[in-house]
Amino acid sequence: MRRFLLLAHRVPVDGGFTLNDLAGGGGRMDEIARAVSTAFTLSNDLRRDTEVTILFRASPPPRARRIVLRGARLRYLNPDERSTAALLKNALVRSIRLDVEVESSPGLVVGPSEPLAELSRYAAAADALWLRESGPPLEKVPELGTGFAAIVSDADDPLPEEVAALEASGARAVSVGPRSLRASQCIDLLHAHFDRNELPGRPP
Ligand SMILES: C[S@@+](CC[C@H](N)C(=O)[O-])C[C@H]1O[C@@H](n2cnc3c(N)ncnc32)[C@H](O)[C@@H]1O
Repeated sequence: MRRFLLLAHRVPVDGGFTLNDLAGGGGRMDEIARAVSTAFTLSNDLRRDTEVTILFRASPPPRARRIVLRGARLRYLNPDERSTAALLKNALVRSIRLDVEVESSPGLVVGPSEPLAELSRYAAAADALWLRESGPPLEKVPELGTGFAAIVSDADDPLPEEVAALEASGARAVSVGPRSLRASQCIDLLHAHFDRNELPGRPP
């Protein structure tokens, strides 16, 4: 499995934003939607072996939300960013008054979250990778398996308490390039690296 955890710091967790202002009032939902789209879409196909979890922090914290998208069941994910943002927004709107998880569309589950505890659990997985600009280059990291659980932050760096949780977790920090990239670009590069190992007969 290829798993991604996205840290969304500023998206209004009640879905109270317009699709015409994803980068402003949407709290950088444009970045999250692009990352989701990049994680799942190929040219004319979907990556069914991929799962994306998004932790939406909230102020006040009790309303924090989690969305999990599973490629094996996923439907209604179109390649454009706006419709992906709409899918996520609808899930948040539907969830905000509920205390339980619901599948708001096929392959998309939304529910309450405890972001810091969930980040710590996720990062404790044996195949956890922390995408970090200052990490060692991915190509030089030994013994990567066939799958991963990769943690990526949105347009903001992880908060100090998130950094502390990641440092305590044992997740392996990796860099995918010498420059500071967008979350979706990191996802593309990570997929490409593992694709090369998985499909060695294909052209490089
Ligand atoms: C836009 S960056 C965060 C803000 C960035 N530090 C800046 O100053 O603009 C979003 C996230 O992508 C990941 N990231 C960006 N560049 C990376 C790289 N070269 N290698 C690994 N991860 C990277 C990290 O998880 C980072 O927190």
